[in-house]
Amino acid sequence: MIRLKSIDIQKNSITTLAVPVCEDQELHDSILKTLSSQAKKFEEFDGKAGEEVILHDPAGVKATRVIFMGLGKLEKIDTEALRVFAGKAIKTCIQKKLTKVVLAAPSAKGLKIETSDIFKALLEGAFLGNHRFDKYKIEKKLTPLKNIAILTTPGNVKKHSALVRKVKAICEGTLKAREWVSTPSNDKRPGAFSRMLVREAKKEKLKTRVLTDKDLRKGKYGAIIAVGEGSQDKPRLVELVYAPRGAKKTIALIGKGVTFDTGGINLKPSGGIEDMKIDMSGAAAVAATVIAMARLKPKTKVVGVIPIVENMPSGTATRPGDVIKSYAGKTIEIGNTDAEGRLILIDAMAHALKTFKPDVMVDIATLTGACMVALGDKIAGVFSRDDDLASAIVAAGKKTHERAWRMPMPEDYQELLKSNIADLNNMSSSRYGGAITAALFLAEFAGKARWAHIDIAGPAYIKKGTSYCEAGGTGFGVRLFCELIENMNA
Ligand code: BES
Ligand code: ZN
Ligand code: ZN
Repeated sequence: MIRLKSIDIQKNSITTLAVPVCEDQELHDSILKTLSSQAKKFEEFDGKAGEEVILHDPAGVKATRVIFMGLGKLEKIDTEALRVFAGKAIKTCIQKKLTKVVLAAPSAKGLKIETSDIFKALLEGAFLGNHRFDKYKIEKKLTPLKNIAILTTPGNVKKHSALVRKVKAICEGTLKAREWVSTPSNDKRPGAFSRMLVREAKKEKLKTRVLTDKDLRKGKYGAIIAVGEGSQDKPRLVELVYAPRGAKKTIALIGKGVTFDTGGINLKPSGGIEDMKIDMSGAAAVAATVIAMARLKPKTKVVGVIPIVENMPSGTATRPGDVIKSYAGKTIEIGNTDAEGRLILIDAMAHALKTFKPDVMVDIATLTGACMVALGDKIAGVFSRDDDLASAIVAAGKKTHERAWRMPMPEDYQELLKSNIADLNNMSSSRYGGAITAALFLAEFAGKARWAHIDIAGPAYIKKGTSYCEAGGTGFGVRLFCELIENMNA
C-alpha cells in the first residue's frame, strides 16, 4: 500500500525513514532539518546527487534507521530527481529485505516545483520502483515492499490524497505495459497476446472487439495479413474503447503489436534479433493507456486500435518484391519484409479512421533502428505536421520524463518511397533518414485527422535497470498519453 501520511516521528516508532537532502539548501523543517544537518556532518555525505548515508537510531526520532539521499544543488532538483529519490529509496529497502518505508516529502519552499507535482513525482517513483517482474524465476529473491508512506503535513494529506488513486491507476498501467513487453515471445504469440489485452480491458469494463485473421482477410486488411503470413499464429486487430457519455472529442491511439520481429524473409542477423520480443511495446502502451482511462474517467473518448502479428520467415511468408493491397486501397511493393511495422500500422490507422472518425490520431511504435541512431535509446521521435499536437506530445513527455523530440517531415523526401510497380514501396531508396521516411510512409494513411507518430524503438526497453525501472520493458508512453489526454480535457 502506498499513501500520503502525517506521522509524528518523534513519538511514533518507524523502521525506516528515507530523507532527501539538498547540497546547498534546506528541504525540511524542524526535526528533519536537524537530522539532515547531522547527516551532513559525516565526511562522506554533503547531499551531492547520488550520495547516501544511513544512521541507525539517531537521536530525536524513533526510527530504527534513517537513509539520507543526496539530491544535489537546489537549482538542479526537478520532478525527475524526486522520482529517482523515491525509486532509489525503495530499491535500497527491497535489497535490505525490509517490508516498509516512510519517505519524507521535501517542503516546496525552496523548490521551484508545485506541491502537487512533488507528491505526484514521489508517488510515481514509489509505485514504479516497487515492482519486480520475477514470474519466470523459480527462486524469487527480492519482494516489493508492503507499505510505503509519504510523510507530510496533515494539511497536505487532506489536500492531495486524491492524487494517490490517480497516480496508482496510471502507474499500474505503466507496470502492465512493462510486464507485457518483458514477457517472452513464446508466451505472447498473437492469439495469446490479444487475449491478454482483452482480459485486462474487460476487468475495467471496457468495450472490446477482436478481428481474427478470417475477419481481416474478408475485410481486405491486406497489409496486416501480408506481415502475418509467415507465422502459424495468425494476426489479430484489437479494439479497446473507452466511451464516456457526452464525449465531444475522440482520440484514437494506434500501437504496433509485433509479438516477435524476426525480419521475415529479410531475416535479422544475430545482434539485431535477440531483443525483438519488445516489438509490441506500442501495443502495450496503447492498451495500458485505454485501460487506465477506465479508471481515470476523462471526458474524451479514447479508443485503442492494436494490430497484432508475428513477423516470421517460412514457406508461406510474404517475399520481398511482392505487391500487396492495403485496407485503405493503396498498393504497396514490399521492398523489405523487415519494414513490417509501418504495414500493420497503416491498416490499423485506416480502420480507426473509418470506424471511429477520430479528431486526433496518434500512433506509437518501435518502428526504426534509425530513430535510435538519431536520438539515442532514451528519447522518442515525434513526427507530425500538426504543430500544436507535436508540441502537446513533447510537453506531456517533458512532464512525465518520457522524453520526446520533434523530427522533421520534409515533403521532398516522399519520393524516396516511390515504387515502379505499386503506389508505394515500404522501403526507402535511401540508406539515410530511415525514421523520417517511415513516418512519411505512415502520413500517406493519416487521412484528415490531426495525426502524430511516436517512434519508441529506443526508449521502449532498457538493458540495465534504473532507479525506478527494472531491466526490460519500460512502459514508455503510458504516462505520456495519460498526461496528453488529461490536458486535452482541460
Ligand atoms: N522492429 C524494428 C525496429 C527496431 C529496431 C526496434 C531496433 C527496436 C530496436 C523494425 O521493424 C525494423 O526492423 N525496422 C527496420 C526498417 C528498415 C528495414 C527499413 C530498421 O530499422 O532497420
Ligand atoms: Zn522489422
Ligand atoms: Zn518491427
